[in-house]
Amino acid sequence: MSDSDKPRADKPRTWPEVERRSNLERRVERPAPASRRAGGEDLEVRTPRPIRRDERRSGRDRRDESSWQSVPLELTIASDADLTEALVAAATIARTRAHARYSGFKVGAALETTDRDVITGCNVENATYGLTLCAERVALVKALSEGHGAFTRVAVVADTDNPTPPCGSCRQLLWEYCGDIEVILANLERTTATLRLSELLPLPFDDRLLK
Ligand code: THU
Repeated sequence: MSDSDKPRADKPRTWPEVERRSNLERRVERPAPASRRAGGEDLEVRTPRPIRRDERRSGRDRRDESSWQSVPLELTIASDADLTEALVAAATIARTRAHARYSGFKVGAALETTDRDVITGCNVENATYGLTLCAERVALVKALSEGHGAFTRVAVVADTDNPTPPCGSCRQLLWEYCGDIEVILANLERTTATLRLSELLPLPFDDRLLK
C-alpha cells in the first residue's frame, strides 16, 4: 500500500472515503491472476455474474402493498424551437460526413417524420460525377428503406451565406414521397430560409397525371 492510501488517524474519514479506501486496499491485496503476474501488470477484467430472470436486485416487489403510491412523472416536452434547432443540428452533423472530394461542397440533410424521428443524409460524390447522391435524397432513401413513410420537415445545411435549396431532382423526389413539407435551409450559423416545398416546386409532375 502506498503512503497516500494508508488511513490517517488524525483526520476523521467520511463514509465515501472509507469505502473508496477499502476498495483500494482490497484491490492491492488481491493477487493478480497467474496469467498476468508474469507480465508484471494486473489487467484482470472482472465480469459481473449475470442476474437470473427470477432474481430481484433490490428487495421484494412492493407495488401491490397499500402504502405504495405512484408518483406523477414530470415530462418536459421540447418546444417547436428546440425541435427545429435539433433538426438543423442533425443536418449540420450529417454534413460533416459528406463525401465531396470533387466539388468541395458539403451538404447535410435531416428529414423529420410525423413520429418526430430524424433521418439524416449527406452528399456522396464519385469519380463519374454524374452518380453523385445529394444529401436530401440520401436521407429520403434511408428513411424509406427503414420503413418511414410520413414526413413533416426537412432541414438542409450548407456553408453558404445565401440559402442552398434542394436541386430539381431532390425537389421531385421529396414532393412525391413527402408531399408539401416544410423546408428549412440553414448555414453553419443561422437559418437562411424556411419555405414549403410547393413554393420550390409550384407545378409538380406527379402520379395525379398518370391516372
Ligand atoms: N448537393 C446536395 O447534396 N444537395 C443539394 O441540395 C444541392 C447539391 C450536392 C451535390 C454535390 O455533391 C454538391 O452538392 C455540388 O453540387
